[in-house]
Amino acid sequence: MPLRQCLFILWLIALVLGLATTANATTTISQRFKEAPQFYNSPDCPSISSIEFELDEGEEHIFCSDEAVHVAMTLDSAYIRGSMAAILSVLQHSSCPQNIAFHFVTSAKANASLLRATISTSFPYLKFRVHPFDDSSVSGLISTSIRSALDCPLNYARSYLANLLPLCVRRVVYLDSDLVLVDDIAKLAATDLGNSSVLAAPEYCNANFTSYFTPTFWSNHALSLTFANRKACYFNTGVMVIDLDRWRAGDYTTKIEEWMELQKRMRIYELGSLPPFLLVFAGNIAPVDHRWNQHGLGGDNFRGLCRDLHPGPVSLLHWSGKGKPWARLDANRPCPLDALWAPYDLLHTPFALD
Ligand SMILES: *[C@@H]1O[C@H](CO)[C@@H](O)[C@H](O)[C@H]1NC(C)=O
Ligand SMILES: *[C@@H]1O[C@H](CO)[C@@H](O)[C@H](O)[C@H]1NC(C)=O
Ligand SMILES: *[C@@H]1O[C@H](CO)[C@@H](O)[C@H](O)[C@H]1NC(C)=O
Ligand SMILES: *[C@@H]1O[C@H](CO)[C@@H](O)[C@H](O)[C@H]1NC(C)=O
Repeated sequence: MPLRQCLFILWLIALVLGLATTANATTTISQRFKEAPQFYNSPDCPSISSIEFELDEGEEHIFCSDEAVHVAMTLDSAYIRGSMAAILSVLQHSSCPQNIAFHFVTSAKANASLLRATISTSFPYLKFRVHPFDDSSVSGLISTSIRSALDCPLNYARSYLANLLPLCVRRVVYLDSDLVLVDDIAKLAATDLGNSSVLAAPEYCNANFTSYFTPTFWSNHALSLTFANRKACYFNTGVMVIDLDRWRAGDYTTKIEEWMELQKRMRIYELGSLPPFLLVFAGNIAPVDHRWNQHGLGGDNFRGLCRDLHPGPVSLLHWSGKGKPWARLDANRPCPLDALWAPYDLLHTPFALD
C-alpha cells in the first residue's frame, strides 16, 4: 500500500477513535447539573406545624404536614434532565417554595444514592424523600403496548402512590417529568375535589373516548357497560391531584390492577398506564382548568411535527408525545415552544467551563 494511502487510513482511524472518545466524555459530563438558586417563602406562607402523626427522630415535619404541598414524581436516569427542569419550575413559580415536599419514586433497581446525590447537588435546600418502587410487582402485569416507552414499570408508579407515600400524606400532586410549571403549584394542589372525587385532572370531552379502547372492549356487552352511567371523558394522567385517603379507602390500586389483569387475557386497550385510569375514574373526576395541562407539546418528532399551544391561559406546559425538548434542543432541531423549556434546563453545557 502506498505510504500516502496508509497515512490517510491511519488518520481516519484516529479521527473515528477521537470522535468516539469525545462522545463518551460528553455522556459522562452530561450527568452533571448546575446548582439552582435557593428559593424563599413569602411572609404570608402558612407555617408547617400541626403534626398528628409520629415522625422518626430528626425527620422534618413537612413530610407529614397538611399545610405542605406534596409533589410526587418519578426519577430515573433517562428522564432526570426533565425532572430537574420540572422541579426548578415548581420552585421558581411558587410563593411558598419552602412548604413543598417532594416525593420521588425510583425503581428499586436504580442507584438511589446516586439519584439522591444528583438532586441534592442541584437543590441543596430541597425537602425530598426517595421512595423505592419494586417494579417487579407490576412488570408481571404489563402487557406490551404500541409505544414501548410506555411499558417502563416506573410509568405505573402513579397507581401505587397511596402505598408508597407515608399514610400521613393525604393529598398529592402527581407530575410527569416532561413538563414545566409557570404558575404557583399551590393553586393546583388546592383543587376542590368535592365530596367524593378521588382525583382531579383537566378533562377533554371533545377527544374521541372510543378510540382509547379496542373493538374487543366495546363489542363485549358487560365490558362496555363500564361507562354506562358515567359521562366519561379523556384525561391525561401526567398531571393529577389525588386524594390519597379516598384512594386508600376505596383500594383503587387493586381496581387498576384488575383491569391490567384483564388486559393480559384479552386486549381491551393499546396504550400503557393511561387506560386503566380511564376505566376506573373517567366520568368521576373533579375537573381542573385546562391551563394546568397544556399537553401534547412533544408532538411527533419522527415526522418533525411541532404542536402549538391550545387556546387559553397557560399554567403548565407538558411535552407529552414522542418528542422531548431536551433531545430536540441537543439535536439542534427544536420546536418553537421548546424555547420555553430551555430556561429551566440545569444541565451543564457539555463543553462549558465550570
Ligand atoms: C464508549 O462507551 C461505550 C458504552 O458506554 C463503550 O462500549 C465504548 O467502548 C466506549 N468507547 C470509548 C472509545 O471509550
Ligand atoms: C451508586 O452511586 C454511588 C455514587 O453516589 C456510587 O458510589 C456507588 O458505587 C453506586 N452503586 C452502584 C451499585 O452502582
Ligand atoms: C355530594 O355533592 C353532591 C353535589 O355535588 C350532592 O348532590 C350530594 O348530596 C353530596 N353528598 C354528600 C354525602 O354530601
Ligand atoms: C372514534 O374512534 C372510533 C374508533 O377509533 C371510530 O370508529 C369513530 O369513527 C371515531 N368517531 C369520531 C366521531 O371520530
